[in-house]
Amino acid sequence: MRLFNNWINGDCLKELKKMEAESVDLVITSPPYHNLRVYSNDPSDLSNCESYEEYYYLLGLVIAECERVLKSGGKFVMQFEDYNYTIGRDNRRGKESLVGEINKMFTDNGFVLWSEICWEKYTPQRAMISDGSLWYRNLKVRDAIIAANFGYVYVYKKSTTGEMEKESGSDITLEEWASYASGVWKIPNTSVGGANHMTPYPYELCKRLIKLYSVPGDVVLDPFAGSGTTNRAAIENGRNAIGIELNEKFYNAAQEIFDKWDGSVFECDDNHDKMIDRFKEQLAIGELNKEKGKAEKEEQKQMRNRKKELRAEIKLLEEQLNVLGMKKSEIKKLKEEVKEEVIE
Ligand SMILES: C[S@@+](CC[C@H](N)C(=O)[O-])C[C@H]1O[C@@H](n2cnc3c(N)ncnc32)[C@H](O)[C@@H]1O
Repeated sequence: MRLFNNWINGDCLKELKKMEAESVDLVITSPPYHNLRVYSNDPSDLSNCESYEEYYYLLGLVIAECERVLKSGGKFVMQFEDYNYTIGRDNRRGKESLVGEINKMFTDNGFVLWSEICWEKYTPQRAMISDGSLWYRNLKVRDAIIAANFGYVYVYKKSTTGEMEKESGSDITLEEWASYASGVWKIPNTSVGGANHMTPYPYELCKRLIKLYSVPGDVVLDPFAGSGTTNRAAIENGRNAIGIELNEKFYNAAQEIFDKWDGSVFECDDNHDKMIDRFKEQLAIGELNKEKGKAEKEEQKQMRNRKKELRAEIKLLEEQLNVLGMKKSEIKKLKEEVKEEVIE
């Protein structure tokens, strides 16, 4: 199968309208915020809205369009965070919560909240570098502020009933599942590729979501594609990619990276059936590990029992030596000599 990397420069609202309904398997994105960082003064840039109302209205329209192009049962993964107001930018302190607004937009548009992940991006020490109010000496009486060193990853499913897929299978290994299954992901906030963007999300975060919520050969869409992290992770993991980015500078920087790709990255001999075979192999490894674990436990149990028996035998021997007239101190010395001999 030959994968496609559809990299589009434009307003996602307009571009999504050109796409066929139910043509995408997974949407992953991290949206712009209404007043945190302005990417451009383009009127269709969501980071450049006049008001909260305008921003949420437009974001709602993007979610509705993504719902239209997403297949039934497909996931829409939204990475975002609540953020601290600052006196400098907002003239007040406190927090802006996006969770409630965003959740309502999804549920109003036929999605069910499927999973939540808390992404720990960096240490509180690093957060302190940019926010002096986190320093111990600046702690305010009864008014401590906690480091905003994490973001949310909300996974929505296009379904109103929340019905589960019947087929068992996954593209992740047993080892990966051990860390992916946790509701807290510790992933440093760094991105590969360095496509000249100020807020890319990490490749690893994107890769995990792609492996969890799609299969090889699926179509993955990012309507706010920035530096193209989603496209890179999709193609490099055997999925087709569609990314829409408004800002020409970001678009071109990512295009330069795609242009350097060896054409062979698009040749993919993986598919759903092969993924199921890999899953079965992982299940067999799991069974083997379970058996090994059981055997090890049994061995440890036998060792403990043997130690108990030996202690009882030594005690009996000591009692017999004592009856034969050997003093306790002599028995102790004898035991130490035997111990030394064993060690030698
Ligand atoms: C948070 S960034 C996404 C970063 C991306 N996840 C990455 O790893 O590079 C949001 C992006 O949305 C873009 N954007 C804003 N309004 C847009 C619109 N109407 N259509 C498409 N992209 C838009 C911005 O230019 C910005 O690059």
